[in-house]
Amino acid sequence: MVKIPVKVAVNGYGTIGKRIATSILRNDDFKLVGVAKYTPDYRALIAARQGIKIYVPREKVEAFKAIGIEPEGYIDYLLEEAELIYDASPAGQGVKNKKLYDKLKKPVVFQGGEDPSIVEVSYSTLCNYSSVQGKRYVRVVSCNTTGLLRIICSLGVENVKRVFATIIRRASDPGEDLKGPINSIKLDLEQIPSHHALDAKTVVRDLNIETVAVAVPSTLMHVHVLEVFLKDKCIDVATLEKSSQGRVVAIHSKLADTTGKLIEIARDLGRFRNDLYENIVFTNTFTCRNNVLTLIQAVHQEAIVIPENIDVAYGIMNLETDVYRVISKVNSLFSIGIIKQIFSGEGSI
Ligand SMILES: NC(=O)c1ccc[n+]([C@@H]2O[C@H](COP(=O)([O-])OP(=O)(O)OC[C@H]3O[C@@H](n4cnc5c(N)ncnc54)[C@H](OP(=O)(O)O)[C@@H]3O)[C@@H](O)[C@H]2O)c1
Repeated sequence: MVKIPVKVAVNGYGTIGKRIATSILRNDDFKLVGVAKYTPDYRALIAARQGIKIYVPREKVEAFKAIGIEPEGYIDYLLEEAELIYDASPAGQGVKNKKLYDKLKKPVVFQGGEDPSIVEVSYSTLCNYSSVQGKRYVRVVSCNTTGLLRIICSLGVENVKRVFATIIRRASDPGEDLKGPINSIKLDLEQIPSHHALDAKTVVRDLNIETVAVAVPSTLMHVHVLEVFLKDKCIDVATLEKSSQGRVVAIHSKLADTTGKLIEIARDLGRFRNDLYENIVFTNTFTCRNNVLTLIQAVHQEAIVIPENIDVAYGIMNLETDVYRVISKVNSLFSIGIIKQIFSGEGSI
């Protein structure tokens, strides 16, 4: 049995890594040993001033000192000290880092940009929490896939005959100035289905799903248009919200009909980093007729995978077998439930 708090290292402190690290800091079941930083920049400086221990490559120590950061040590020390490692490196770097992890013999949580073949399990809480218990290498699927799988597994895989999803994805995260498109709509696929369908199937193997994707000039959230052919009878949006354990929330588009307004809701709620951890389904787009369900949802790419990244730690470290207890704990960590409370009075619209 692993002793609590579990010591955690975060390798890569970008969009996802910094969110994982600060979530670990807020959770008494885990202890952040520190984060690995490769470039001496504003992110490193802020983290250091916030008391986060920064570990760096040997050859970069002087560069970090030059901007006023005293590194805690080298990255290999950090990885050795931890009992659980999160790899939040740029997509495709994780497979290279795995050579290091192989020597360390400790569990690692990779992110969605990595090839699924490098892990034992690709993961999404509502679909396969129990399959990560005691595993060494797990991958939390990407933001779009997490958004799709939360819906599909809340509906019940056994009740889903076929899914078709159109993904309208943000061009870049807010800090990524050099990515595009900046003034066009770009196909985000080489063939149909786009890679998102294949990614969903790494979690739910026999899922009948097709996806298409385009990228638009925005940094604020993805939007999905879903059509789900059900085997059994229709459900209503309240049932979907309930079976998602709060991870899916419905808001009428008369109250918020743009991703900009949704992020403004996160700001007004005082959410850390303006993060929206929930799938936001536009209530009035939810229809279910003749066993065909349609909905439009928005997914905050920077935040959506963070609850799943914390859930998975309870499974991989064998801390809790009951997925509902894990979700409830993690939901309260992120105040998931507050949006539902506020918008539950919208019935008169
Ligand atoms: N951004 C999203 O919307 C999103 C959503 C879901 C999943 N993901 C997935 O999450 C992963 C991380 O994406 P991200 O958006 O957080 O990337 P990111 O913002 O570019 O951050 C990547 C971080 O990795 C660090 N790094 C550089 N070399 C490294 C190495 N050798 N080992 C470990 N870390 C290294 C970088 O450090 P320095 O800054 O110090 O150079 C940077 O902080 C990817 O697999 C991505 O596909 C991203």
